[in-house]
Amino acid sequence: MSEIQAIYLKDYKKPEYEIKDVNLIFDLHEEYALVTNRMSISKIDESVANISLDSIDLELVELWLNNLKLKETRYHYKNEKLTILNVPTAFSLKIVNKIYPQNNTELEGLYKSGTIFCTQNEPEGFRRVTPYLDRPDIMSVFTTTVIAEKSKYPVLLSNGNKIQCHDSFDERHGVTWFDPHPKPAYLFALVAGDLGVVNDEFTTMSGERVELNIYCDLGNESKCTHAMKSLKESMTWDEEKYGREYDLEIYNIVAVDSFNMGAMENKGLNIFNSHYVLADEDTATDTNFMGIQAVIAHEYFHNWTGNRITCRDWFQLTLKEGLTVFRDQSFSADLNSKDVQRIDDVKALRERQFVEDASPTAHPIQPESYISMNNFYTSTVYEKGAEVIRMINTLLGEENYRKATDLYFKTFDGQAVTTDDFLWAMSKASGVDLSAFELWYHQSGTPKIHVKESYENKIYSLTLTQEIPNAVDGSKQKPYFFPLKISLMNSCGTIKVEKTLLISKEEEIFEFTGLSKNCILSINRDFSAPIIVEQEKTEYSFLMKHDDNSFVKYESAQSYAVEMIESLMHGEEIDQEYVDAFGYLLEVDVDLSFKALLLELPSISTLMQRQEIVDFELIYKAKETLQKHLASIYKEKILELYRKYHKPLNVSIDAKSMGQRAIKNRCLRMLGALDDAEILRITQEQYRDSLTMTDRVVAFDILENTSEELSTPVVADFYKRYKNDTLVMNKYFAILAASQREGTLERVQALQNDEVYNEKVPNLVRSLIGVFARNYKSFHAKNGKGYSFIADKIIEIDQINAQMASGLCGAFKIYEKMNKINKGVMKRELERIISTQSLSKNSYEIIAKILKTH
Ligand code: BES
Ligand code: ZN
Repeated sequence: MSEIQAIYLKDYKKPEYEIKDVNLIFDLHEEYALVTNRMSISKIDESVANISLDSIDLELVELWLNNLKLKETRYHYKNEKLTILNVPTAFSLKIVNKIYPQNNTELEGLYKSGTIFCTQNEPEGFRRVTPYLDRPDIMSVFTTTVIAEKSKYPVLLSNGNKIQCHDSFDERHGVTWFDPHPKPAYLFALVAGDLGVVNDEFTTMSGERVELNIYCDLGNESKCTHAMKSLKESMTWDEEKYGREYDLEIYNIVAVDSFNMGAMENKGLNIFNSHYVLADEDTATDTNFMGIQAVIAHEYFHNWTGNRITCRDWFQLTLKEGLTVFRDQSFSADLNSKDVQRIDDVKALRERQFVEDASPTAHPIQPESYISMNNFYTSTVYEKGAEVIRMINTLLGEENYRKATDLYFKTFDGQAVTTDDFLWAMSKASGVDLSAFELWYHQSGTPKIHVKESYENKIYSLTLTQEIPNAVDGSKQKPYFFPLKISLMNSCGTIKVEKTLLISKEEEIFEFTGLSKNCILSINRDFSAPIIVEQEKTEYSFLMKHDDNSFVKYESAQSYAVEMIESLMHGEEIDQEYVDAFGYLLEVDVDLSFKALLLELPSISTLMQRQEIVDFELIYKAKETLQKHLASIYKEKILELYRKYHKPLNVSIDAKSMGQRAIKNRCLRMLGALDDAEILRITQEQYRDSLTMTDRVVAFDILENTSEELSTPVVADFYKRYKNDTLVMNKYFAILAASQREGTLERVQALQNDEVYNEKVPNLVRSLIGVFARNYKSFHAKNGKGYSFIADKIIEIDQINAQMASGLCGAFKIYEKMNKINKGVMKRELERIISTQSLSKNSYEIIAKILKTH
């Protein structure tokens, strides 16, 4: 493993060269592609003699410097660098190289998804296309010509505007694209294929007409409607909320089936995983529809936060990702339900980011080092990064925040900048001192806030103590500066005090005078800071009923349920007060999607995070007991609620219809815990009669988790109906891989031989193998079979697609929190993985951190 090296932020050096413009010609053939790359390069630092271009797996054909063919003595190609010796101050460099997109299974650089040629260059894929200074602070103007066979590849796309078609020669044709905006190579894109298209247009606030196209596999055009609508919504929103307008004549989106991530913001040519484009009611769930809206928006918003203003280096990733996630969350909150959006975002943060932050792979939102940059597209950089921007938004207030983002865009447009530059603009425009806030960028781990309350002489006092976890290397970390929204209520639920406290010290006492009686505290309203709050005793049922803050209402229901589940784990009883409060939630008249969240019990992940040594069996059993208890006490009420909102023929995706489906499916799931013949019959009917995928997958999932007898016919029916739709087959594999019935491992192993399954398609691997690795019951089976199966898969997939393999390694991050037996078995498997010959640096980095051997 000697060639594995870490990259450090502290080693950042300014570029020695600039590339003014790039002219690329792609000659695409069935066995290979020929790339001709002409660059105008000049020295920034006159003292350097050589230039080293990043190049991975490239076959050099010829090199020309200022129109002279270079002899082999003038350059060398080793260790992924093409070095040209003794270059002049300014020169043109022409490189012709050959690549093999058809054999590219890593799905980085230029590759094939089915019959479509496409690219993925973030963060460091461009060096697999052609030799280049592949770093985000090298920004250049790109002209691209794509040439391919007319009949197989009628559609030829790249960034920017189409400036020329070359239709003369034989069976081949070509198109030239010009992107006037200087950009880093990671935003370069190319697509060639026989694609269907949906076309629309948008007029920007200054009256410019933009052509909008969404390309997909032929026959899927009708499934692009929702994506197109979302794109127009995003364009309008960014104009209204941030004053940001689109800046090219054309905006293209292409949906492909083989994609490592969700989607990519290439300038003027977004490439999407088809999962985030294609949808109709028969094949997509409500969650899928919401996901499409959010991801379309996210990639569109990058046009300003990422593309016009980009990152100086990859340590700055949160500059574009944290900010853009915050922007897409705000967009979704504005277009849908604000309260539900906030709760969903916090749920996602806690289930993934809090877990990561407590694991051996914990890192600050701005990491200090990495081995593989691909491993740092994490929920910490993204979701915690978004929380950090949200806190800035809270500290500044809406008006100042808008002034500050205006200043940021004005000052840094066209540049590659750092998070310090961003903080400078935030502080400069608002006058708010953010120097103490910077720690959020440089420390890891989730702070815990201990709360003490007292009431004496009509003074209510609140003592808050920050408990800051150590960094992964054991070093001490400092207390944070953050906004904490609170309110104090009297016993009738009337708010007496409502404030945003500014916390900056390890321990702080806040006193509130003039309160004639003791008050009830509502804390971290709207989840104003990404922290864990520890309170001694809380009036959960009071807050569930009276708090006007939806987040705290939800939080109280969750915390109360956690307390009950933990009581059951200790052999204690369930409080009647909790049961009554739950009964109140069943009756409460609120938005139905919100109500569905209120009635949901805490996730296994939430419960697990609270244990020092995880005991899944105990958790599952206690949660099931509570669910059964509630479902049997309230069976009639829940059933009534189900019947009231079950509308099997309604396929609309408006908020009201989605809310109805959310609540009735929550009811069905609660009742599903009962194993009751009547309920199972209703579930079968829902599977049979409902016209939406939302309803069908819920029924399928409940039946799959009940018994083999009920599962078998549904599995067969679903397969027959959808085997030709790979997006739906992802759901099929995921439901089966998440099954809590006996024998899941064996079924998952057998499913790998299904004709629909393909180990080279990331979506399918994630649905079958990825979901199984998060099926705690099967994965952590005491016999170790779950571990060895996933270890085998990691070793195998690592050779196909390292990014996918290192994603699977994540399942082992829980290592340190397992009991002795599991830990022992896990350790053997981790050691087996890390000692594999030619293991990728991606997988190596994750496993080494888990084993603490780096
Ligand atoms: N820039 C990323 C896509 C990306 C990440 C490409 C890592 C290559 C490596 C894109 O903007 C993104 O963040 N996509 C997310 C979805 C988004 C809604 C959070 C993704 O792909 O998961
Ligand atoms: Zn992004």
